[in-house]
Amino acid sequence: MKKIMAANWKMYKTADEARQTAMALTTLVGAVPADREVLIFPPFTALHAVAGALRPALGFSMGAQDVYPADEGAYTGEVSPGMLSDVGCRWVLTGHSERRHVLGENDDFVGRKTTFSLAAGLNVCLCIGEKLEEREAGMLAAVIERQLDKGLKDVPGDIAPESLAIAYEPVWAIGTGKVARPEDIVEAHALVRAKLVALLPSAGERIPILYGGSVKPENAAEIVHLDNVNGVLVGGASLQAESFSRIVLA
Ligand code: G3P
Repeated sequence: MKKIMAANWKMYKTADEARQTAMALTTLVGAVPADREVLIFPPFTALHAVAGALRPALGFSMGAQDVYPADEGAYTGEVSPGMLSDVGCRWVLTGHSERRHVLGENDDFVGRKTTFSLAAGLNVCLCIGEKLEEREAGMLAAVIERQLDKGLKDVPGDIAPESLAIAYEPVWAIGTGKVARPEDIVEAHALVRAKLVALLPSAGERIPILYGGSVKPENAAEIVHLDNVNGVLVGGASLQAESFSRIVLA
């Protein structure tokens, strides 16, 4: 199973800044181990620029940070899976904590986006993770169960494992510098793996589970070699090519 080393550039980069960072990352070509894939999620407005910069780079792919679950229609401001494929996206994020807790997307809508995008031929990285108060209330397993139950509700049982990934991102570790402890990551990823096997028996063991939440060059090597960690999803530390390159090679 390839380790997916993913960068989520959120709303931090202009198209040209994103292009420049992507160009800088192509110096990694040839250095990225064969068992790793570099996956960049730029802002929508930078997709063209980044696609152009990454075109020659082997082992790199690009995704979108969001999608609307429809092929076309009167959905002002939204973007369809087909539009994303047109610009070179192979992946899409669904259920990112900021879309859940800042923009108010519920589990059902996340599930619709996930299923529709997979059916449209995009690979989906479904993001899940508990809030601090949920962890402190002992609700880690319940939150993971609920978000995977709802997020994968209509995903076909014969799903190809390479078309889906889960990003476990504890909300309290995102953007805070408070990375989860190794034992916390191992516990959560084991819960995710068990649920994936229960929900999708044929693919569950082989669906990559990424960790996200204050991943930095200093902690990446330990995290990426933990049990059931098949990659990372990096925010802040991915905005600079140098620090993200160190994470990719960790
Ligand atoms: O999607 C990844 C992101 O939410 C993690 O952010 O800045 O904690 O690496 P950060």
